[in-house]
Amino acid sequence: MKHFSIEEITGWDRFYRANFVNSLSGFKPVSLIASRNEAGQTNLAIFSNIVHIGADPAMVGFINRPREAAPHTIANIEATGKYTINHVRAEFAAQAHQTSAKYPEGASEFEEVGLTPDYKLGFEVPFVKESHVQYAMELFEIISLKMNNTFLVVGKLQHAFVEKAALKEDGFLELSSAGSMVSLGLDAYYETIPHSRFAYAKPDQPTRSI
Ligand SMILES: Cc1cc2nc3c(=O)[nH]c(=O)nc-3n(C[C@H](O)[C@H](O)[C@H](O)COP(=O)(O)O)c2cc1C
Repeated sequence: MKHFSIEEITGWDRFYRANFVNSLSGFKPVSLIASRNEAGQTNLAIFSNIVHIGADPAMVGFINRPREAAPHTIANIEATGKYTINHVRAEFAAQAHQTSAKYPEGASEFEEVGLTPDYKLGFEVPFVKESHVQYAMELFEIISLKMNNTFLVVGKLQHAFVEKAALKEDGFLELSSAGSMVSLGLDAYYETIPHSRFAYAKPDQPTRSI
């Protein structure tokens, strides 16, 4: 295998380094986060640094880049406390990617890229109709990461919509059945195929497939 020290990595061209380091942590869940400002203007942007925080209470976090780079989603969430997270499918991967463009504040990426806002249950922020896994979030906390001016935005789950075929008897969501993609780096998207599920691991028992 080829070895790279942090000194060498730090010396690389910034785009090469960004591609390398962004790929290193692995495949990521890729979703569109919809939000709305106080005047009702919607915003839609693609995010992949999304992480499960806990199941009870159900909490999910995501990393928002520095405000200069990604200002709208975080500002809307600070203003209204509500947002939706919507998994990306292959059918609209290109449109989802396009939401990462720096559209001006007054523009809604729903219109710019041609995705459909879906208002339901009286939730103030639309879901993405084309997505087969959609969930609504309420802001809990924004933690500022001082080292690089990014933010960990932590929210509490309010509602979830999932394609029936993906929901298994034990509550597991087989997201490949819903067509949920994963992403790698900042520009690559993958479809998934199931490999294995194993029973809860115990020290005194052999690994068992389920
Ligand atoms: C595949 C992919 C994943 C991305 N993931 C993130 C992310 O996790 N956090 C982030 O702040 N920006 C991420 N971005 C960049 C944002 O989509 C982009 O900055 C967007 O313009 C933010 O929009 P906003 O200002 O409307 O919030 C990603 C872009 C792509 C293409």
